Amino acid sequence: MIEGRKQVTSSIPTAVVLAAGLGTRMKSRTPKVLHEVCGVPLLSHILEAVGALQPERLVVVLGPGHERVEPHLPESARVALQLEPRGTGDAVLKASGEILDGPMLVLPGDTPLITAEVLDALVAHHRASEASATLLTMILDDPSGYGRIIRDDAGDVTAIVEHRDADAEQRRIKEVNAGMYVLPGRRTLELLRGVGDQNDQGEVYLTDVIAALRAEGLRVSALPVADPTVTLGVNSRVELAEAQGLMRARILEGWMREGVTIEDPASTFIDARVRLSADVRILPFSSLRGETAVGRGSEIGPGSSLTDTLVGEGARVIQSHTERARIGDRALVGPFSYLSPKAPLEDADETGAFVQIENGTAVAPFSRGDGVTIGAGSVITQDVAEGKPGSSRTRQESIPGYTARAAEPNGEDGQDGT
Ligand code: UD1
Ligand code: MG
Repeated sequence: MIEGRKQVTSSIPTAVVLAAGLGTRMKSRTPKVLHEVCGVPLLSHILEAVGALQPERLVVVLGPGHERVEPHLPESARVALQLEPRGTGDAVLKASGEILDGPMLVLPGDTPLITAEVLDALVAHHRASEASATLLTMILDDPSGYGRIIRDDAGDVTAIVEHRDADAEQRRIKEVNAGMYVLPGRRTLELLRGVGDQNDQGEVYLTDVIAALRAEGLRVSALPVADPTVTLGVNSRVELAEAQGLMRARILEGWMREGVTIEDPASTFIDARVRLSADVRILPFSSLRGETAVGRGSEIGPGSSLTDTLVGEGARVIQSHTERARIGDRALVGPFSYLSPKAPLEDADETGAFVQIENGTAVAPFSRGDGVTIGAGSVITQDVAEGKPGSSRTRQESIPGYTARAAEPNGEDGQDGT
């Protein structure tokens, strides 16, 4: 996401993303897949990674609350509905009508850290192994909760056994199913119609297709991921924060590698869709949110928070808060300025300290000439002419005898305050 479109070599006819689960553990009115990691919904992170493989057809299986999720899908995506969550296998069956001939990639909708490179490696491994199905696995010290991978002596996968259905010996297996697969599309649909729901949850499990393929004499291979954090699933707010922390570190590191100085990564927050240029400097306690973009050589912070803001080149934004603002080249903002929408700062404009510039609804939008300076402590609501410093401070007055009169009885009743 941070370095634009990834270099991938694999392609796949169909990709199916399963996002119909209820997400009960989030305890939220918002569908789970819309919860955000670094400013972007969980589901959008996955769709971005899948998009790099350019599947001929992208199908997203949605459940209750689908109306809220649909606007976040790319236009090319097809939606299949599973209004009752009857298992991952049932979810794939709901997409039956959309699945093309050939292999299909199946992914969960709640693993925001997955990358195009890992998906590319999965598809490439599948093609090289000539297996009928290939799954991504992870080796975990604590495998509890996950489906265990059962292999034969040749190393081929014979079955996946869900944690709750596994016996004591199977539970000792540390290799688990990451929930991402390349499966034979149409064959999988046929087999799913026969697997039934005789398991602890009474659901149709997609994982049962593995043993069914084996029973037909077909081979299943597995690719363990080196870094199990890329397949981390988000089921609770605790896991959401964990994913956010990992994604945040990945974004910061990515920008540092692109030539951005981040003085204190521990106090810097950069959303996934922010765009930066080389030689930008970010000073401590700063957040860049939404679709903010910063031009070459600009310095942000310390203590600045920019949301959906465009900053030109060589500008400085010191201890300031901006929302949907535009800041020109070499402009100087702050300390302690607030810039709101439709209040563009042109090239080389300066605001002093404690300035608020906004386009309030009661006030007409204003414009300023190039290179204007706004005086400290101003709330600017009208045009500021070129070459004239704008200032809106009230004049300081001294009131003779005020202290003596204020001390008189009734002096504080407000009727004769001056
Ligand atoms: C699943 C796997 C398990 C694997 C784990 C990895 C099955 C039966 N088990 O278990 O082997 O180790 O993922 O995280 O597949 N979903 C639907 N409709 C449903 C149920 C689920 O769309 O009826 C979606 C969910 O939204 C989610 C994904 O499928 O995105 C996985 O479902 P989840 O309930 O998290 O499966 P697990 O029990 O974690
Ligand atoms: Mg899960």
